[in-house]
Amino acid sequence: MTNPAVVGFSGNFTRPSKTRGFVDHIVTEIAGRYGLAASTHDVVDLGPSLGNAKWAGDLDGQARGILERIVAADVLVVGSPTYKGSYTGLFKHFFDLVDPAALRGKPVLLAATGGGERHALIVEHQLRPLFGFFEAFALPTAVYASDKDFVDGVLASEAIRTRVGLAVDDVGSALFGRQRARIAAE
Ligand SMILES: Cc1cc2nc3c(=O)[nH]c(=O)nc-3n(C[C@H](O)[C@H](O)[C@H](O)COP(=O)(O)O)c2cc1C
Repeated sequence: MTNPAVVGFSGNFTRPSKTRGFVDHIVTEIAGRYGLAASTHDVVDLGPSLGNAKWAGDLDGQARGILERIVAADVLVVGSPTYKGSYTGLFKHFFDLVDPAALRGKPVLLAATGGGERHALIVEHQLRPLFGFFEAFALPTAVYASDKDFVDGVLASEAIRTRVGLAVDDVGSALFGRQRARIAAE
């Protein structure tokens, strides 16, 4: 049996990226706490086939591999920089290629970064409805960090680290609640 996995995906398409670093920080916390295999990807990793893809089958092997990892993940961490009050267009385009039933019931931790605090509710008003469409299990604690929370691209805010800890608690409830439900159904 393969090790259960936490997979991060960030909607940045430039690097260095605070969002990718933020998503990777969360992924590392989850992996450390629950002993999961971990990987983090971003739009840069998807490469050039994304822009022209109308269907998942149009993606090249590398991008399709990332999509398959996301679909197979036991826990997903998704994040995006805020662009014009929402996630990036390429983040949405990538999820437009995902089968509507592929993320059903999957625990998903929602994260975003932005220039300031004004758009902090992007996690509730933009990301949560998107994963609601997929009938994913979007975790109750979503996390947002702004430019001032990073020093040299690394998350420095104690308050945000604490909130990440609460979100990681949610992951445990989702993972072990699911396990209990499976056992009860046997
Ligand atoms: C085109 C563009 C649009 C942006 N729009 C917003 C916005 O609406 N609200 C906000 O808080 N920050 C906005 N920002 C700032 C970025 O969200 C912020 O700097 C983010 O943390 C950058 O993440 P990255 O380092 O991963 O690229 C925008 C930045 C760019 C380049």
